[in-house]
Amino acid sequence: MALIEGLNWRHAVKAYDSSKKVSKENIDKIVEAARLAPSSSGLQPFNVIVVENQELKEKLVQGALNPDCMRDCTHVIIFAGWDRYTAERIDKVYDFTTQERGLEKGRFSSYTDMLKKIYLAQPAEENFAHIARQTYISLGLALGQAAELKVDSTPVEGFDNSVVDEILELDKLGLKSVSLMYVGYADTPNDWIAPMKKVRTPKEEFVIEFK
Ligand SMILES: Cc1cc2nc3c(=O)[nH]c(=O)nc-3n(C[C@H](O)[C@H](O)[C@H](O)COP(=O)(O)O)c2cc1C
Repeated sequence: MALIEGLNWRHAVKAYDSSKKVSKENIDKIVEAARLAPSSSGLQPFNVIVVENQELKEKLVQGALNPDCMRDCTHVIIFAGWDRYTAERIDKVYDFTTQERGLEKGRFSSYTDMLKKIYLAQPAEENFAHIARQTYISLGLALGQAAELKVDSTPVEGFDNSVVDEILELDKLGLKSVSLMYVGYADTPNDWIAPMKKVRTPKEEFVIEFK
């Protein structure tokens, strides 16, 4: 029940209290949930970048639609996808997997050959859209973990990706930002959405059942 309770408790916070800090232990758990996310073919084609440094946050603020939130939260987690699939990236993941599992190198080569054939033939935008979808699973799990810990957060697409990518020089890492997650503790009096009821599509309407 802890997850459902947490999901009912959480909301996308609109104002953070900069005097309250999220502990290292809690941020580690949130990041670990992000890391454990499943991904298509297990490629994990993304990284999370955790920014706690206030000076850096102040720079990133220029790309944010809600700058105060970014400034006042404790951590900004950036979900950044691979800028493209490459044969080397696919091989690296599968070489590591076979090694970790004690299997012979190349055990999955027919599968990785298939992945390369599909991905490398597709337009870059289509591949990045696929990569970006993987990051959202990770974001969702991180949001769920934060909620279980009663740590406040905001999922964020309201930012200028090019500003974030440039400041963090993500091109040098072969990455492009997809979404952000602000993590911190709400400034409740100024968090105007906090008193409002959580609204979701009613279950009867949301779930389409074929019995
Ligand atoms: C992918 C994604 C992007 C979002 N981007 C923003 C954002 O840029 N700014 C913001 O204040 N809220 C953002 N939200 C929060 C949603 O508006 C919010 O989750 C939704 O209205 C449901 O409300 P709740 O999360 O408070 O229950 C985003 C949510 C998601 C899942």
